[in-house]
Amino acid sequence: MNNDSKNPLEIVIVGHVDHGKSTLVGRLFNDTGSMPEGKFEAIEAMCKRRGVPFEWAFLMDALRAERDQNITIDTSHIWFQTAQRPYVIIDAPGHREFLKNMITGAASANAALLVIAADEGVQEQSRRHGYMLSLLGIRQIAVVVNKMDLVGYSHERFFEIEAEYRDFLAQLGVTPRYFVPVAARDGENVAASSQKMRWYDGPSVVQTLDLFERPAGAPQAALRFPVQDVYRFDHRRIIAGRVESGTLHVGDMLQFLPTGKTARVASIEAWRGDSGAPVSAGFSVGVTLDQQLFVERGHIAVRVGESLPRLARQMTANVFWLGTRPLQVGAVYKLKLATQELGCRVAAVDAVLDASTLEPKPGSPLLRDDVATVTFEFDRPLVVDLQAEFVSTGRFVLVDGYDVCGGGIVTATSDAVRANTRVLDDETRYQFLGFRGAVVSVSGELEHVQSLERVLVESGVVAAVADLEHAQALSRAGVVALVRASEGAFDLTRDSLLDVATRIRLQTRV
Ligand code: GTP
Ligand code: MG
Repeated sequence: MNNDSKNPLEIVIVGHVDHGKSTLVGRLFNDTGSMPEGKFEAIEAMCKRRGVPFEWAFLMDALRAERDQNITIDTSHIWFQTAQRPYVIIDAPGHREFLKNMITGAASANAALLVIAADEGVQEQSRRHGYMLSLLGIRQIAVVVNKMDLVGYSHERFFEIEAEYRDFLAQLGVTPRYFVPVAARDGENVAASSQKMRWYDGPSVVQTLDLFERPAGAPQAALRFPVQDVYRFDHRRIIAGRVESGTLHVGDMLQFLPTGKTARVASIEAWRGDSGAPVSAGFSVGVTLDQQLFVERGHIAVRVGESLPRLARQMTANVFWLGTRPLQVGAVYKLKLATQELGCRVAAVDAVLDASTLEPKPGSPLLRDDVATVTFEFDRPLVVDLQAEFVSTGRFVLVDGYDVCGGGIVTATSDAVRANTRVLDDETRYQFLGFRGAVVSVSGELEHVQSLERVLVESGVVAAVADLEHAQALSRAGVVALVRASEGAFDLTRDSLLDVATRIRLQTRV
């Protein structure tokens, strides 16, 4: 499948307030021929109505006004196409108040354009945003030095900004791919090379986009397939998600973490394009399995035999803090990593520094816009990779109530149980035991559930009444864990005990 021609590459556009992000987006849209007929005139009319000079930055408004005319657009995403492939640009508002939108927007982007106005040069947010990109693992960065017209297209000024900003990024271990001198308003070096800056012989902005690669796209990389949702669809259960790393094939033996259940991919249902073709990183897909498993949103599928993620109870991360209140040791937040959501507690905060100046702030609490090394503890195992090894399963956002209050990347997992430390894999274990483990939810009085345990054990099934917390671990060991719930697969006040026991025996026999 030629994925590149179908799925858009997501790019986030960041930079200091007023440095020309929206103008560049409008110009990219126009200069790649994506502008619907009459839209230019509509922007012109809108500007006239508002009594302001023509602004490319009003493109979003103009498109939004015509949303019902079949244009796919929302408040901050814009779709366009070059000869090579489609793109989505996420125009993250520059103002600090909107940093949290950016962090969530950036969390799905794989490349970034960072805009610096040539007249004002590197500003506080140019640096903070650079830091956030590095923190989010966005390594493909092109720096657009905009408004070159305001500095007389001076290459000295351009190289000065390039040197200063390269220096800053080098401290973060980031090497930007390109620095492009641009006058976005006039389209200089946006799609076409500028005649006004003949001293520059590098790519235009559009060419740099086309040179970006899909990260984690290495087909030989280990699979990471976080489950977004499970749909029922004429008898079939379709497990939907986005391949974040590696390539998914029909026939792959998948293991779902943290449960450890395994099943083969029976079919791949592409939303568009060829069904059944392998799916590489960055693409959303639905699969069916050769067995009914308990799979839900948040589980992460990997391929049996490949490097496994960690199941962490504790982790250390570099955190960028956006909360209005400082991050406190002992505080509890919600953590979102890939499609997982779970509670976390702050165990320690170390090495606080100012994300703009990179100055350490010894003894300071972690305040808004600053960065620190934070240790978290979880109420259940988090399926996680180190960010240096897997970008998307190694970065996360923190949520306080409904607000994103921070983001970060995973640098270490302490106390982590490597999922592959078990000598026996589940299938081998079950082959020997003759039974699969399972978690079975049963409703009814406690005595009823205990009777079920007895009937099962008497007939040779290793069954035990368990609480939810231990049920998964027991089931992986091959035990049929009976969890008493208010609503369950079996209702013992209604269903016959022997009938239920028979069905469980049949379903768990290997
Ligand atoms: P925020 O979203 O508010 O952070 O701003 P922004 O970065 O999106 O900037 P925007 O595109 O709104 O542009 C800010 C101002 O700079 C506008 O008045 C633009 O017309 C102007 N501008 C953008 N690009 C250029 C350029 O290449 N040259 C000149 N002279 N002005 C430009
Ligand atoms: Mg803007």
